[in-house]
Amino acid sequence: MDKTVTIKVHNVSKTFGQGDDKVHALKNVSLEVYRGELVMIVGPSGCGKTTLLSVIAGTLHFDSGTIRVLDSELEQLDKAQLTEFRAHNIGFIFQLFHLIPTLTTVENSAIPLIIQGKTREDAFKEAEVMLEKVGLGDKYDKLPKQLSGGQQQRVAMARAIVHNPPIVICDEPTSALDFETGIKVMDILKHIAQTHNRSVIVVTHDHRIFKYADRVVEMDDGTILEVRHNHTDEPHQTS
Ligand SMILES: Nc1ncnc2c1ncn2[C@@H]1O[C@H](COP(=O)(O)OP(=O)(O)OP(=O)(O)O)[C@@H](O)[C@H]1O
Ligand SMILES: [Mg+2]
Repeated sequence: MDKTVTIKVHNVSKTFGQGDDKVHALKNVSLEVYRGELVMIVGPSGCGKTTLLSVIAGTLHFDSGTIRVLDSELEQLDKAQLTEFRAHNIGFIFQLFHLIPTLTTVENSAIPLIIQGKTREDAFKEAEVMLEKVGLGDKYDKLPKQLSGGQQQRVAMARAIVHNPPIVICDEPTSALDFETGIKVMDILKHIAQTHNRSVIVVTHDHRIFKYADRVVEMDDGTILEVRHNHTDEPHQTS
């Protein structure tokens, strides 16, 4: 694996609410992610996993600390710059699939390309190639409600990676899937990390897929407790 750091989270804190309702979702969290690596984040419900993914993806502001993703210092970007940053750098598979119910499989999958300015025709062609890869070659013109949960998850996955982003972030990508479909999803994510040299972060409760991780980051109550390496030759956590 390449030892280039693509994501550097340094001392990041994030609170929600005020007064008695205040929740410390992230408390001085630091983490580095490398190119070509698949990192899993695990921990109990409410420990801050989705919050951490969201601040890295630039969809949520944080209170203090710094986050560098590739060449961008996120705390220095304004709203328009963050939108631009996301469009080019981030593929996000959400905890719930967030497919647009009135759009077909191809239309949903092509969204990132259309945001990047491709013509509909080109975007749809590329989306079809990606859908074929995730095993949905026969579902191009179906609406989300005509698909099973596993198929919807694979549409979400095609949409997340169709523009070949350097960073792919997945919140519970296999939780709604049967074992076999979950393995297919993880095979694709591992392939993206290894073969395309992308950084893939996966939040999961699913112990059956831990073997896909290069490193497992364990969180509890807004902090990182431990980073475990699955292989001894991996780079070490430095912060
Ligand atoms: N928008 C919000 N407003 C207020 N509190 C929030 C908000 N989002 C998250 N929280 C709180 O921040 C903490 C961390 O939430 P987060 O969603 O990051 O947890 P999680 O580890 O992803 O949990 P799960 O495994 O259940 O998805 C929780 O206590 C949650 O209630
Ligand atoms: Mg969550």
